[in-house]
Amino acid sequence: DWTTTNVVDDQVELIRQQVGDKQVLCALSGGVDSAVAAALVHKAIGDQLTCVYVDHGLQRSGESEQVEKDYVAATGIRLEVVEAEDQFLTALAGVTDPEQKRKIIGREFIRTFEATARQLDAERHIEFLVQGTLYPDVVESGGGTGTANIKSHHNVGGLPDDLEFDLIEPLRTLFKDEVRELGVALGLPEAMVYRHPFPGPGLGIRIVGEVTRERLDILRAADLIARTEITAAGLDRDIWQFPVVLLADVRSVGVQGDGRTYGHPIVLRPVTSEDAMTADWARLPYDVLEKISTRITNEVDEINRVTLDITSKPPGTIEWE
Ligand code: XMP
Repeated sequence: DWTTTNVVDDQVELIRQQVGDKQVLCALSGGVDSAVAAALVHKAIGDQLTCVYVDHGLQRSGESEQVEKDYVAATGIRLEVVEAEDQFLTALAGVTDPEQKRKIIGREFIRTFEATARQLDAERHIEFLVQGTLYPDVVESGGGTGTANIKSHHNVGGLPDDLEFDLIEPLRTLFKDEVRELGVALGLPEAMVYRHPFPGPGLGIRIVGEVTRERLDILRAADLIARTEITAAGLDRDIWQFPVVLLADVRSVGVQGDGRTYGHPIVLRPVTSEDAMTADWARLPYDVLEKISTRITNEVDEINRVTLDITSKPPGTIEWE
C-alpha cells in the first residue's frame, strides 16, 4: 500500500542497487520534480550525487536563493552553481520574437549544462543522470526509457554521444501530488514543494519585448508583490498558476502625486486549471486584486497601470509568449 515511507524506502533500495559505487549527476531547475528526484537519490547514495544549477538570471525573486541556500541546507546535497546570467542576457539582446527567445534560452541552457557535465565527468567519471520524469510524462511519451535526453524543464534535445548517461527516474510511477508528499517527507522547503508550475524559459517569456536586466528587475518586483499577496490571502492552492507579464514596449499616461507619469502596464494572469491543457481565469477576490494593484503601482516606479487578463484557454494560452 502507498505510503511515503514505503516509496522512499523502496526507491532508496532500488537506486542503491542501480548505482552501486558509480557517480551520478542531476540538473536542478528550481522546480518540484527535479528537487524531489535529487533529494531521493541523495538519500540513497549521498555524495555520489552532484547537482548542477544553471542560474540564467530569468528566475523570480528569491528562487535561485531557494535552490542555492534553503534546498542545500535541507538536503546537504553537493551543488555546482553556474552563474550564467550575463551569458543568457547577451544571447537574448535585441530579441523580441517569443519562439526565438525560447530557442536561445534552451540552447544556452544545454550548452552550459553540457560544459559543466563534461568537466564533472572528467573529474569523477559520471555514469548516471537523474531526471524528474513523472508518470504522466511516461504515458505521454509512450512509456519509453533509455539514455540521457535532457527534458528537465527545458524540453530541449539530448546530450552528445560522448556524454551519454544511463537514466535514474525515481518518480516514474508517481503523480504530482504524490511527488509533493514525498518532498515534504524528505524535508524540502514548503515553498519549493508547493511551487506553482513555472516555464523553463522563466521570466524571459513574461516580458513582451526585449529581455534586459532592468526589465527583469521591474517584473521581479511586481511578481513578488502578486505572489506575496496571494500567499497572504491563503489562495496559493486555489489557483494553478499566476503569471505576471510586463508589457515592456507599451507605455501609458498616468498621474501620481502631482506629476504625470508615462510608465509600463503589467498584466495579472491568474488561472485555474487541472492540467494546463485548458484553463480558466481565476476569479480572485476584488480586495486581493486591489491590494496587488495598489502595492505594485506604489512600489514599482516604472509601472503605472495594472490590468487583469480574463481570457480562458483556449483561446488564450496561459503564458503570453
Ligand atoms: P501555455 O502558455 O502553453 O502553457 O498555456 C501551458 C503550461 O506550460 C508552461 N510552459 C512551459 N513550460 N517550458 C516549460 O517547461 C516552456 O517553454 C513552457 N512554455 C509554457 C506554462 O507555464 C503552463 O504551465
